[in-house]
Amino acid sequence: QTGYITMDPGFGNTGSCTSAITFMDGEKGILRYRGIPVEQLAEHSSFVETSYLLINGRLPNRQELIRTSVQLNDDSLIHEDMQIFYQNFPRRAHPMGILSAMLNALKSFYPELQDTEEEINRTFLRLLSKIRTMAAMSYRISRGHKVVYPRADYSYCANFLNMMFDSPVRPYELDPDLVEALNVFWILHGDHEQNCSTAAVRVVGSGRVNLYAAISAGIAALWGPLHGGANQAVIEMLTSIHESGADINDVVRRAKDKDDPFRLMGFGHRVYKTYDPRAKIMKKMCDTVLPKLKVSDPLLEIAKRLEEVALTDPYFIDKNLYPNVDFYSGIVLRAMGIPTEMFTVMFAIGRLPGWISQWKEGADDPNWKISRPRQVYTGNTLTDYIPIDQR
Ligand code: SDX
Repeated sequence: QTGYITMDPGFGNTGSCTSAITFMDGEKGILRYRGIPVEQLAEHSSFVETSYLLINGRLPNRQELIRTSVQLNDDSLIHEDMQIFYQNFPRRAHPMGILSAMLNALKSFYPELQDTEEEINRTFLRLLSKIRTMAAMSYRISRGHKVVYPRADYSYCANFLNMMFDSPVRPYELDPDLVEALNVFWILHGDHEQNCSTAAVRVVGSGRVNLYAAISAGIAALWGPLHGGANQAVIEMLTSIHESGADINDVVRRAKDKDDPFRLMGFGHRVYKTYDPRAKIMKKMCDTVLPKLKVSDPLLEIAKRLEEVALTDPYFIDKNLYPNVDFYSGIVLRAMGIPTEMFTVMFAIGRLPGWISQWKEGADDPNWKISRPRQVYTGNTLTDYIPIDQR
């Protein structure tokens, strides 16, 4: 047996860590943030309010919510010198690579210590606010467009959309349905217990590096096509089916072929062995948001057909392979006008409050141990050195 004994990120040598943030039941398809079902948050909350819930462990009262929104607005600009970094990335650089690098750079521009409770909470809000500005900036500069600054009169999500799409020749018109859809999209990505990128944040954070660097590690981990990069991979898969006219049955057949590396992207999950509750909401959003935005996307029909064929196929049924959060999320993002290469960045913005809350949970634990996975050694037994002329 190779590999290493699974270890809790920063929680000592056990097989699973304790956390009070997110509850998941993979068999029943349950997801709750601080005990509140994600379905209720998607229906009633906002992304800023859900971020407050994840980080502080309870919903804010009205005063606290207003104070948080004002703080997010105050912190929404980034240091002008950071724009020089952006100008020097190749235009085709992937925005996830840029985001991870720029998040790390924040420490150099905002070196405030994280010693007091107040400074740490300020750092959380600074991160939540600036990630939006940095993401939109990477998109604008990659297009050779002028950077759009945040506005004091816009909400968190509205500001992001405006920073992405406003133009002097065609001022961006905010659509309340679209702003609402973005709130729900980001709420659904808020946290997901010890997934790959969150574990990376906890493992890197357990060495007591600054929060920006730990979050930068989480962004790098999320980029992978088996993890957050799947939302971009799903759309690439659906687009190739659409453009090639491939038969859906053949696609599903290929996904089952052991000798074929092709997998049905957006299907399967390490924990959910039933329909991902977030995918259910995402799928409903496709049926409600697209008509409201007067968008009809041929990829939606292909996705629904793929799901229908796969979920009646013994291979997928026996292996408990169902749509996960990424299967329909890309179709919602397309309807918002978000370019495919920005999809995983959208996932990262949504997951940021979860990463922050998980890092905080570790940092608040006086016994937060450095993460140090062990291994099952399968190499040579004791071996003597052989001088080169005898080899
Ligand atoms: C996210 O952990 C989280 O919480 C992540 C996430 C979050 O919010 O943070 O939910 C976000 O990352 C969702 C997952 C996005 N990734 C994809 O959609 C990529 C496609 N899915 C697969 O690569 C896979 O399902 C994983 C990586 C998601 C899960 O892998 P597992 O649980 O380790 O499954 P496995 O690789 O052990 O597969 C079990 C069996 C294998 O067949 P056998 O070896 O038993 O014969 O199922 C097969 C796999 O070949 N299988 C698939 C498949 N996923 C698994 N076959 C075809 N298509 C697929 N998508």
